[in-house]
Amino acid sequence: MQDEIFTDIPVQYESIQAATKALSFNMASDLFTGSLLKTLVASKPCARILELGTGSGLATSWILQGMDEDAILVTVENNAVLLEIAQQQLNDNRIDFVLADGYQWLSEYKGKQFDLVFADAMPGKYDLFEEALAMVKTGGFYIIDDMRPQPNWPEGHAERVDNFIQMLENRNDITLTKLNWSTGIIICVKV
Ligand SMILES: C[S@@+](CC[C@H](N)C(=O)[O-])C[C@H]1O[C@@H](n2cnc3c(N)ncnc32)[C@H](O)[C@@H]1O
Repeated sequence: MQDEIFTDIPVQYESIQAATKALSFNMASDLFTGSLLKTLVASKPCARILELGTGSGLATSWILQGMDEDAILVTVENNAVLLEIAQQQLNDNRIDFVLADGYQWLSEYKGKQFDLVFADAMPGKYDLFEEALAMVKTGGFYIIDDMRPQPNWPEGHAERVDNFIQMLENRNDITLTKLNWSTGIIICVKV
């Protein structure tokens, strides 16, 4: 099996990638993560999805690919330039593009829970984790990537990652699988 061959890359992916490269944005999600997200999203009919850290919309394009016509996605990003790319490229009335600070958004959100949360920013992952997990339905997914050492990690981040993983492993309200694949993915399910 060659897992680096993708037969279903979203049509918008290439143009989003081109716009992303022009901005020298180096935190983009990879194809593996996107593909996994698409498949997990497709497991949830009428899914309610939350993405924290839209970036320019690379993972968003995959999430959209997995959504049925009754699914909705809320995606939160604090960088207006990046969000604008995602919004232009993925114009779809099932997506709510939110330009906001994730810390504030997570602290103030009072709406329904989600079937899948992809936490790809500091808020909702290393910060305000409890708030983000509380937004996941029982049986829903909480997904994180970038858990293997990345070239853009600042000093001290590796220790933070180790502590975060240990915290996840010690919880009794989630079950998880760690994948040393892609950038290092952890799939958690709320139990
Ligand atoms: C790892 S990147 C996301 C990559 C994206 N998921 C993709 O598919 O390419 C993290 C994103 O979180 C955003 N971000 C950082 N701090 C944030 C905050 N406080 N609130 C909202 N977004 C934030 C960054 O601007 C960046 O786009």
